[in-house]
Amino acid sequence: MKLIRLSAACGLVALLTACTHPGAKEQEARELEACKQMVLAGLLKIPEARDMRFLGKVAEATAVCRGGQKALQFRMTPWVDWSQYWGTGDMASLPQNYVSSQGAALRGVSGALLDLEYQRIALIKFNLFDNSGTYKTYVSGSGGAGGRSIKVWPEMRLPKTNPYYQAVGGERAQECKGELIRGRTTTGICNDILNPLMGSSGALFARNVEFETSFPDLGRNELTRNRHGNRLGLLTPDPQVISRNLLTRIQTPDSKNCNAGFGAPDNSPTANCDYQKAPFFNVLAAYWIQFMTHDWFSHMEEGHNAAAYIDMGCTTQLVDGVPKPLTPAEAEKLGCRPGDRVDKTLVADDSPPESFTAGGKKYLARAPKTFANTNTAWWDASQLYGYDETSKKRVKRDPKDPARLLLEPVAGVSGGYLPVLQAGDPIQPQWMGQEAAAFPDNWTIGMSFFHNLFAREHDAFVEEFRRQAAERPNADSGLRNPAVPTREIANKDVTPEELFTAARLVVSAMIAKIHTTEWTPQLLYNEPLYKGMNANWNGLLGTGEPEVSKALSDIVVNEFGKTKDVVKSTQWYSVFASGPGIFGLGSQVPGYDITKAESTNGGVNHFGSPFNFPEEFVTVYRLHSLIPDLIEYRDWRQDPNQIVQKVAVINTFEGKATDAMRSRGLANWGLSMGRQRLGLLTLHNIPQFMQNIRLPRLDTPGKQIDIAALDLIRDRERGVPRFNEFRRQYGLRQLTGYDDFFPKPLSAEHRQWAQQLREVYGTHVCDASKVITDAQRNQDNSPIDDCLGHPNGSVVDNIEDVDTVVGWLSESTRPHGFAISETQFVVFILNASRRLFSDRFFTSSFRPEFYTTLGVDWVNHNGPGPEQIEQGLPNGHKQPVSPLKRVLLRNIPELADELKPVVNAFDPWARARGEYYTLEWKPRPGAESDPAFMK
Ligand code: HEM
Repeated sequence: MKLIRLSAACGLVALLTACTHPGAKEQEARELEACKQMVLAGLLKIPEARDMRFLGKVAEATAVCRGGQKALQFRMTPWVDWSQYWGTGDMASLPQNYVSSQGAALRGVSGALLDLEYQRIALIKFNLFDNSGTYKTYVSGSGGAGGRSIKVWPEMRLPKTNPYYQAVGGERAQECKGELIRGRTTTGICNDILNPLMGSSGALFARNVEFETSFPDLGRNELTRNRHGNRLGLLTPDPQVISRNLLTRIQTPDSKNCNAGFGAPDNSPTANCDYQKAPFFNVLAAYWIQFMTHDWFSHMEEGHNAAAYIDMGCTTQLVDGVPKPLTPAEAEKLGCRPGDRVDKTLVADDSPPESFTAGGKKYLARAPKTFANTNTAWWDASQLYGYDETSKKRVKRDPKDPARLLLEPVAGVSGGYLPVLQAGDPIQPQWMGQEAAAFPDNWTIGMSFFHNLFAREHDAFVEEFRRQAAERPNADSGLRNPAVPTREIANKDVTPEELFTAARLVVSAMIAKIHTTEWTPQLLYNEPLYKGMNANWNGLLGTGEPEVSKALSDIVVNEFGKTKDVVKSTQWYSVFASGPGIFGLGSQVPGYDITKAESTNGGVNHFGSPFNFPEEFVTVYRLHSLIPDLIEYRDWRQDPNQIVQKVAVINTFEGKATDAMRSRGLANWGLSMGRQRLGLLTLHNIPQFMQNIRLPRLDTPGKQIDIAALDLIRDRERGVPRFNEFRRQYGLRQLTGYDDFFPKPLSAEHRQWAQQLREVYGTHVCDASKVITDAQRNQDNSPIDDCLGHPNGSVVDNIEDVDTVVGWLSESTRPHGFAISETQFVVFILNASRRLFSDRFFTSSFRPEFYTTLGVDWVNHNGPGPEQIEQGLPNGHKQPVSPLKRVLLRNIPELADELKPVVNAFDPWARARGEYYTLEWKPRPGAESDPAFMK
């Protein structure tokens, strides 16, 4: 118990040590006094009810203690306070002339981490809504246990139709055993041994918002009707009009030969399509996240939606707040197309949902419509290996060694490349000519890059295993077969199938590690997030305190994981898991036995709600603005500083990617996308080619659609609440008008953007007698009404109607180094940690018995051999050579020189990383002649 108290006080101790530092300056003294008041007031209470959440806004003394005057002033804005604490930005966020700027940074950064942990606890408590039938139990409990401590659900049993029904126990209590538990299964069943169906292909998407607040267009209840006043529909406000007015990339006179995103016919480097660029994040990072979403979720079946088609707008616009038809001339001027049509989203169930009553309150048992995730929800690299029997047939194994993925030599470029899909493969016509991949949709050069890279990584692992096995054939591989658990499996006895399965586990874990410890800390480039993300993986204690980590992990799994007390099993579980980290949680408990679910499954926690992604998660990943229209193409054999061509992304769409990859090679694409900045997530930054893309699969005359407009339509079809209610549901403060999106005083550009929002979404005369939400209350505890604090009867912005994607793109106040908005981020806080917490192979089954001994070391050290450490202390940290950098070095050795100075493979490779989290766009030594730095 001593350990528990020690860790519980960790954050507090850090604060106090910093707070009690003797202050020399008046300002510092005031802050230290505020620290005392903050400590005396005690830690924040975990809210009892949804409408009592802290909204990321702290008390006055806390703000002053952690960030001084700047943080104090910021409290008036809707945005989370921690972004203004000391040390949470670049050098400018450190105080000048303080006795110890380090002490201030420590209290700022640890304060931010505390705020984030509070947010996570509240999100776990208030934002889990499962659609598959368990929600009633979640609310009401079962057999005396609180709903949130329940771990096994009848709804997660395999149905009779599943081929493995008998194998897991049929009608009896179901438990996965034998071969079914040894690795990641094709359809994702049996990740959770006691809930075989969880996270498998075809399971329903969950929600993070109250069911009652989903599908606002349907106006199902009074609050929704009051909130939107009959103003919403699938095509109102008009999605194409929104796209053209608010999302189109603005082209300056610099833009030459952009040619609607097609660039110059000869790929001339003089072509230019303007886009707003992020200085600290590269194009590899953009494609990385598309590659990830193809692993996590999909609403489509084999590249298709439903059979029926719908219109896509370009027919109305608001004139003085009233929708009026758009004339052909107006449509042409805008650039939209009234004839565009698209296939409807697939719906799993739209029958009226049941309701139930608990504690005097009536609840819907699920959302009014549900949708299936046709992918496995697990982080199992299913985009590479398959998610059902059909997609698996697209995965080519090497017939000479079935442990390997098939890669073939290509003349003129080094290394192996994925084979091309053949007519006999299960493919849609639009995928003809593409490289073999389980998930082939929306394929361009970026997908080709990562699929080839990780196929090579798979084979690199197999090769190293075979090398070691040849050296030590009789040595223990670490693998065990649960059917004969005591039999040691020697290296020489590992079958190709067993090795393939282990390699998939290793590749999936490497991908998860890259995402958690490399992509995300660069996406959210500041100190609290660096610490927070590394805590998710290695724990706040890091790797330096293995004994304490092990002991804490034991406590988390055995004390908090097994209790029926919901507070312990949810909030304390989450808090204490930050100590040892989520990855590997429960894998080191004494007496581990691979035949017992208690061991192999013991480290998972679903917090009372079966794991699947919520629809809202898909919404915040609609990141199409990240993609540039043209890739600044370079050749590693020439001068990497030179841009030799500009290749249009659209000219690498679908089958065209194959030739682009094979004629130019993985190394050149890596270099090109590694150096180029990606597109900012902001208004007016949708790639031109995406607004005009032709999808061969569409059964329409023009086959054209506007992907930005489709993003809005899909969210409306799936009932995602609009932006303001979305924020309220997630425990963030609402906005009161379009101006709130932008920092005050408004710049000329932002004033124009606010006006554009006003023209597109409109205004109305507000009615203070209409209550619009029960998710939050005003600060004086009164209900929130249609006037949002403005005088009754005044003209207010229709801020409640703003589509969530448009809302988060408009958010212009963000924490330092955030490539995404805080609204998107809060969705990640919950779901990114949940998909680690829920996955046995990232927690209690991260063991040599499943991964092999080599596999465990590979994941821990980012490859074979001991961990490698970067020189120096980037941003003040001892930094292992990052996992993606190691993957790149291993599999594309041509890039060795280019990668030498790179610390994070998602930071533009030629950027000088500079001092503490700088976002400056300056070349590193040797890259001064790179034209990308000319402006
Ligand atoms: C480079 C080229 C890309 C192309 C051609 C492309 C194309 C598309 C298309 C056509 C859809 C609509 C599918 C439908 O609902 O009918 C879609 C959906 C989507 N895209 Fe992209 N996309 C690209 C890049 C990205 C990137 C970089 C991201 C970043 C994460 C992304 C995230 C998504 C998401 C989250 C969806 C919704 C998926 C779902 O409903 O399950 N896409 N994309």
